[in-house]
Order: sequence, then C-alpha cells, then structure tokens
Amino acid sequence: MGGVSREQPEEVTVVEVGPRDGLQNERVRLTVEQKLRLINGLVDAGVRNIEVGSFVHPRWIPQMADTAEVFRRLERRDDVRYWALVPNARGLESALEVGVSHVAVFLSSSETHNRRNINRTIAESLENLREVCATARREGLGIRGYVSTVFGCPYEGDVDFSRVMDITTALLEMGACEVSLGDTTGMGTPLQVRDRLGQALERFGPDQIALHLHDTRGLGLANALMGLEAGMRIFDGSVGGMGGCPYAPGASGNLGTEDLVHMLHSAGIRTGIDLDRLLAISQLLENDYGATLNSRFYRYAQAGAR
Ligand code: HMG
Ligand code: MG
Repeated sequence: MGGVSREQPEEVTVVEVGPRDGLQNERVRLTVEQKLRLINGLVDAGVRNIEVGSFVHPRWIPQMADTAEVFRRLERRDDVRYWALVPNARGLESALEVGVSHVAVFLSSSETHNRRNINRTIAESLENLREVCATARREGLGIRGYVSTVFGCPYEGDVDFSRVMDITTALLEMGACEVSLGDTTGMGTPLQVRDRLGQALERFGPDQIALHLHDTRGLGLANALMGLEAGMRIFDGSVGGMGGCPYAPGASGNLGTEDLVHMLHSAGIRTGIDLDRLLAISQLLENDYGATLNSRFYRYAQAGAR
C-alpha cells in the first residue's frame, strides 16, 4: 500500500456512472432501448468502465427497475467492465442471474445519510456487505466499493475522515479492488479535498481509491484538480453531468464526464475517451430523451462557441 505519485500522469482512468448514478435521479425514464443506445454509445466513445444500472428496490429507485432487462439485452465486450450496483444479497442474486461480472457495493460515512439511503446503520451495512462480498468473490466477480458523503453530509455536516478511512479499509479487506470516495452533495472544498486525499493516498495508494465528485456548489473541477495533484488516478464522471442522489437534498449533479475529460486532455493526460463523441451522446440525452444536463462544457459546446 501507499506510494503516492505527484508526477503528472500520462493517463488516468475515468469510470462512467451516468447510466446508473445519472439516470437514477432523472425525471425522465428511459426505455431499455434508449439505455442500450446510451451505454453502447459511451463504450464507442472509449469508455472502458461503465456503471450500467442497479439492482435495488424498484419502489426506492424506479428508474433502475429494468436493469436486469438491460443486462440481458446488452452485448458485452471483453475489454469493457460493465458494473452493476447492488445493495444486498437479494440484489447480488439478481445480478448473478443475468451474468453480471462486476458489482459495486455502497454505504455512507454518515449514519443519517446511510439510514435514508439504505435503511441501515453503518455497522449493519458493513455486516451485510461482508456477506455480499464473500459471495461475489466466490462467484469470481470484480467488486468496487463506494463510500458516500466523504467530505460532508447534508444532514450531519462535517464527517470525521478517519471514519471514511476505516470504512474504506473494511471494503478493501472484503475484496473490493477499489473504493470510490463520494462527495455525494458536493460539499468538498479544494484545500480540504487535497489534504484528506493526501491522507487517503498515503494509506491506500492510487490504485485502490477513486474520486467521485459532484458539482453542486461549482467546485467539482477544482476538487478534481486537487485530487489529481494529490495523486489520484481514478475518477468517476457522469455524462452530461446527469444525476445526484435521491436521498441527499441538493445533490444536483455528478461531475460531468465532458468537464473532467476536457480538463484532463487540456493537461495532456490521456483518458481514451473521445470528447466529441461524448458531446454527441449528451445531445441525444437532452434533445431526444429529455434529460436535464448540468455539464458546463456541454452547455458551452451547445452554445456553438467551440
Ligand atoms: P428495505 O425496505 O429496508 O428492505 O430496503 P428489506 O430488506 O426490509 O426488504 C423489504 C422489501 O424489499 C422486501 O420485499 C424485499 O424482498 C425487497 P417485500 O417483502 O416488501 O415485497 N428487497 C429488494 N427488492 C429488489 N431489489 C433488492 C431488494 N432488497 C430487498 N435488492 C434496500 C433496503 C437496500 C433494498 C433499499 O433501501 C434500497 O433499495 N435502497 C437503494 C437506495 C439507492 O439505490 N440509492 C442510490 C444509490 S447510492 C448513491 O447514489 C451514492 C453513490 O452514487 C455515491 C455518491 O454519489 O456519492 C454510490
Ligand atoms: Mg454520485
């Protein structure tokens, strides 16, 4: 573990979460056909890690009720990791039924947010996920962990970062290949992000943690840059800046993949993603599907200023 690199990297990994984290909070409901076009379009644009959907209770998140159907009909490529979010054993079972090979498990570092999101205490969630991860490992699945509200909680305010580190350690011990640290309502500020990620990188190194930012207060890219400078090498993005968290008031938008990719490319850092193709997907989402997009770079491109 450890080993922080502050050299500018030649390449970073971008994990596209739009089809799950973006769409779960959208007013419009996409058909399975539309979701398939979105997912395949993102893969054609160069995305190699993509969160396709979640196996959660449809009463809680109706937008994800057709995830099994999406996986059934999706033509999967060997060089792409297609992720599904699962909250519990029941969700994992549904994922296994449709041949999912990569699952993401999640919990919050704030008790109140965890209760509102998955109706459990943090301790109960960890116990539950230990079992879920053991089954997933036995089945040979790749596992990703998420910790939410890492830089602050809309209900509880500041979050003790040592709790985030302990939960991250627990998820890695359960077999997660990486843990994505989520600023669920965009409460992080650049210097806080730099300092806390510095601590996390000292402990876990750049291959075991990812950064999942929201642009709620306009600090998404500034925080991404601080993360990059601190040594982070894996970033989540949501095409068009779609989404948020349905159980976190004010969680308006994930950091737009366009914004992130544009910033990285401008620094000469490769992502493998074609920015023009991403913009075309956002255009499809907004014009044909009626999605609400928050990406600043997309808005700028739409204004014809490029
Ligand atoms: P619960 O009501 O406590 O569940 O919900 P339960 O275990 O008491 O069971 C109640 C009913 O749910 C039963 O059915 C179960 O069979 C069913 P009934 O007997 O009433 O007919 N059930 C399920 N159905 C479908 N799929 C399942 C499942 N499990 C039980 N997997 C539960 C607990 C976890 C299911 C619920 O709270 C839930 O679905 N929560 C999901 C919330 C969610 O998806 N939130 C968004 C994702 S997290 C996020 O966005 C943050 C992140 O992106 C990071 C960031 O942005 O920072 C990761
Ligand atoms: Mg998010």
